[in-house]
Amino acid sequence: MSSVRDYIRTIADFPHEGIMFRDVTTLFADPRGFRMAIDQLLHPYAGTRFDKVVGLEARGFILGGAVAHQLSAGFVPVRKKGKLPGAVISESYTLEYGEAVVEVHDDAVQPGERVLIVDDLLATGGTAEAGIKLMERMGAEIIGCAFIIDLPDLGGRARLEKLGMDVHALCTFEGD
Ligand code: PRP
Ligand code: MG
Repeated sequence: MSSVRDYIRTIADFPHEGIMFRDVTTLFADPRGFRMAIDQLLHPYAGTRFDKVVGLEARGFILGGAVAHQLSAGFVPVRKKGKLPGAVISESYTLEYGEAVVEVHDDAVQPGERVLIVDDLLATGGTAEAGIKLMERMGAEIIGCAFIIDLPDLGGRARLEKLGMDVHALCTFEGD
């Protein structure tokens, strides 16, 4: 297999009928695939200095830890509500049905720190936007947002670019 996209498995009708679920566990499980994904996530940022990598729960943690290690940066988790033990700031975002809340420790990033936001998938961009808002409230300088997969039909890239973000994705799935 020659590209990161080739390692991603598609499972039809999960979690609901009509959804084509893009499953990155097959990419993560393959030694060559996982290394290729981390290397390609980092590629646009060669020579760029980062203080922190911000991973979005849960799949963004798997990527974010590896990316932070390669960049010699710290790692900051943005977690779903109620998981972090210290003082937090929160942002809510809209899901297909209802609302979700993500949180970050209020001392995890200092004003002016240079951060990279990482997640596996950019769909509507709601999750990433919540992470962006948290970082902006902390005064971070967001250098980029990096994803394995972009689903352009769902508009996430356009939504984040409208916020002034530099968006990097390794592959797209369109038309279903
Ligand atoms: C998925 C995916 C992204 C998000 C993308 O996470 O891992 O984080 O949805 O969707 P959006 O762009 O429309 O916000 P999910 O919340 O399903 O959970 P998980 O990562 O904890 O498995
Ligand atoms: Mg997720």
